[in-house]
Amino acid sequence: MVDMPRLLVVHHTPSPTMHSMLEAVLAGATDSSIEGVDVVTRAALAATAVDVLEADGFLIGTPANIGYMSGAMKHFFDQIYYPCLGEKVGSLYGVYVHGSSDTAAALHAVEVITVGLGWKPACKPVSVAGTLTASAAEECRELGATLAARLAVAI
Ligand SMILES: Cc1cc2nc3c(=O)[nH]c(=O)nc-3n(C[C@H](O)[C@H](O)[C@H](O)COP(=O)(O)O)c2cc1C
Repeated sequence: MVDMPRLLVVHHTPSPTMHSMLEAVLAGATDSSIEGVDVVTRAALAATAVDVLEADGFLIGTPANIGYMSGAMKHFFDQIYYPCLGEKVGSLYGVYVHGSSDTAAALHAVEVITVGLGWKPACKPVSVAGTLTASAAEECRELGATLAARLAVAI
């Protein structure tokens, strides 16, 4: 039997707004029209190198904190970097970032480390400043759905 491709969702969710973004990406990733993808969700402080090694694609969700990804997400990347270096080259990933005003530096930080890991963007990042509008929540849903659908056909 062939294993299902696995999408690992690693998130730091410190507020109701970010919880809504997480729920939206998960709703997209687990949409009933996408078959055969195992979606695993881990808080950034609980995700391990083994979680990464067992996954085929990655969805990263972080707030912007002091012009960077959150400390929790930085900790995730710090601890998985060397155990996973060279192991997941070419894997598809997506990212959503939320901030009060400026998410660009946080997004750039995630992009830099994913380049180091050899992960490839599956789609445009979702970047939201301030209120999560219905259209921004829909972008999150589409992010989850696109990544899961691409994993479903890629493996
Ligand atoms: C310590 C700290 C640093 C923050 N730094 C930034 C920042 O550099 N840029 C930004 O746009 N938002 C920043 N924020 C806002 C968070 O990104 C925001 O609180 C988070 O995305 C959750 O959104 P919410 O509080 O509207 O629910 C910061 C928040 C905290 C607590």
